Amino acid sequence: MNEQTALLIATNNAGKVRELSQLLKDFPLRLRLLEEFPGIEEAEETGETFAENATIKALHYSARSGLLTLSDDSGLSVDALGGAPGVRSARYAGRAATYAERMSKLLAELDATGDDERRARFVCVIAVADPSAGTLHTFEGECLGRIARAPRGTGGFGYDPLFIPDGHDQTFGELTQEVKHTLSHRARALQQAARHLREHFT
Ligand code: IMP
Repeated sequence: MNEQTALLIATNNAGKVRELSQLLKDFPLRLRLLEEFPGIEEAEETGETFAENATIKALHYSARSGLLTLSDDSGLSVDALGGAPGVRSARYAGRAATYAERMSKLLAELDATGDDERRARFVCVIAVADPSAGTLHTFEGECLGRIARAPRGTGGFGYDPLFIPDGHDQTFGELTQEVKHTLSHRARALQQAARHLREHFT
């Protein structure tokens, strides 16, 4: 294969599209987006783990597009909530809820939780499916931190204004995108996926 090999970034989440496109900016594969394939129905995320859902999405979109496909399943796990919202991060507070409503629900759940017990982690599993070879690989990244008392900053997406990564005092909403890319769960998973893609598809 050569540098013209296409890689489908299989997510409808605008925040993920932006971050994955930035992180793969100089990568020698031709990035394609799901918006180019309006006829493909959305995958149903019926898995119980990030790895299961990432796998479901990569296989679903690679089978329908015929392209080498990269999917991302991710979320926020809060220790004091037994790992919630976890794989249900996007559905927390209902499918139609806004990011602000999901953050309010999370803060309400943690209302009585002291500053020392607000540990949390972002988790991301990236799956890469190659329909021509019938292969599927997954890569996991994690970012440890804690939940702030109130949303701060407007950067990033999702729960970013509530998440303070270890080693920083500011939330992902306040830190620049460049800083997020040096330590995020997504950047860490993608680093491993990129090594695999480089080895097999460039
Ligand atoms: P899914 O992987 O599409 O099921 O949804 C992931 C959800 O987790 C997103 O909709 C966000 O709510 C949350 N999430 C995942 N990654 C991030 C991140 O980098 N920042 C903030 N929220 C995130």
